[in-house]
Amino acid sequence: MKQMKVEGGHKLSGTITISGAKNSAVALIPASILSDEPVKISNIPNISDIDAINEILNYLGAKVTRSEDYMEIDASQIENKEIPQNISTKLRASYYFMSALLGKYKKVEMYFPGGCSIGARPIDQTLKAFELLGAKVVEEDNKYTITAEKLKGANIYLDMPSVGATVNAMLVAVKSEGITTIDNAAKEPEIVSVATFLNQMGARITGAGTSTIKITGVEHLHGCFTEVIPDRIEAGTYLIAGALIGDQLTIQNMIPAHIEALTNKLSEMGYPLTIKRDSITISAIDNKKPVHIKTLGYPGFATDLQQPITALLTQCDGKSILEETIYENRFKNIPYLNQMGADIVIDGQKIVINGKTPLKGSSVTATDLRAGACMILAALIAEGTTTITAIEHVLRGYENIVEKLKSVGAKIDLEEI
Ligand code: EPU
Repeated sequence: MKQMKVEGGHKLSGTITISGAKNSAVALIPASILSDEPVKISNIPNISDIDAINEILNYLGAKVTRSEDYMEIDASQIENKEIPQNISTKLRASYYFMSALLGKYKKVEMYFPGGCSIGARPIDQTLKAFELLGAKVVEEDNKYTITAEKLKGANIYLDMPSVGATVNAMLVAVKSEGITTIDNAAKEPEIVSVATFLNQMGARITGAGTSTIKITGVEHLHGCFTEVIPDRIEAGTYLIAGALIGDQLTIQNMIPAHIEALTNKLSEMGYPLTIKRDSITISAIDNKKPVHIKTLGYPGFATDLQQPITALLTQCDGKSILEETIYENRFKNIPYLNQMGADIVIDGQKIVINGKTPLKGSSVTATDLRAGACMILAALIAEGTTTITAIEHVLRGYENIVEKLKSVGAKIDLEEI
């Protein structure tokens, strides 16, 4: 087990380079098994969620070559066998194999996926899409056996614009006979990246990035090359670090349009930002205005940046309100922020942050990935040293976070316990 030690109060200046997006890479890798030929993917982040997704590829017998951020995947000879519970529960994205295997073999057996404990996270919309496309779903003790005699295009209306359900529906629909439409589809950049990848393999998908995606099924998908898009949540997290304690901190190799909801809120608080084609530069300011934030699907304010920005809201002058509309249980960071000196009240799915309050170093826990990012951000401005346990949650999703923050001036280290 590891813990992180952060000594607060050190200015951050210089440049942080953003890695490939976790939530794009964990979808592209399972999608690759739909191809009958080898595919190549670059800009893959070196994080433990990628190791977990690769474990499934290896378990199925895919031939995988990985060097640095590059992977070549040959899934032409894989064996479609049951994916056991101890592997499927390692991450949420394991269920992209449910759809990829169903699309490829018309049969899949696997368990309920894992992921951060931030809400119930049902998979009903994914299962509904599978059934509409002609599959039969049998669930017994958390194990799903999904079979189809024939996969046939259908009209799928998602009750909410779920990222996972949209990707899963696309992965089956590309191999279903005829035309599928997905209405109320998620519009996140990660959806566009999966659709572009599948189209490069020979799929026929239009409308990705809008609420209606149309897919015309094809029989074969061929080899191709793609690059993982920059991680907008990683970029947003470091931008918040710069807002807290930056002195001309530049976040580069990112797509500013992907985090406009965040940059708009920073502007509302009073931050001047230098936004270029693929970078943003920010410095800390005094007298930040409080704001009202509501999480929404893209292009709204990302729930994955909700916990990180809470650290910054503790430093605004006055009352900020933050509403979480996506997950029921994404406030586990709040007791720890309060322990460090924040004044935050939880009121159902809303929090009220009374700022500005000085923060003091303390012993806290990363209860989940983005809660851990929030604790690191708070620790960067706290007086004294903060120890963060269960830091493995953060290492699942942020590549080289210690090295990246150290390189711009943070006093931060990992230690074995
Ligand atoms: N939902 C349902 N039924 C479904 C699917 C979703 O009720 O069948 C609900 C969920 O319970 C949740 C909401 O819809 O309340 C959104 O869920 P969604 O399916 O969109 O989320 P996801 O695909 O499981 C991905 C990211 C999350 C990110 C969300 C929202 C991956 C692997 N995960 O999750 O990332 O929060 O989209 O943008 O792509 C993270 O990186 O920290 C993370 C949690």
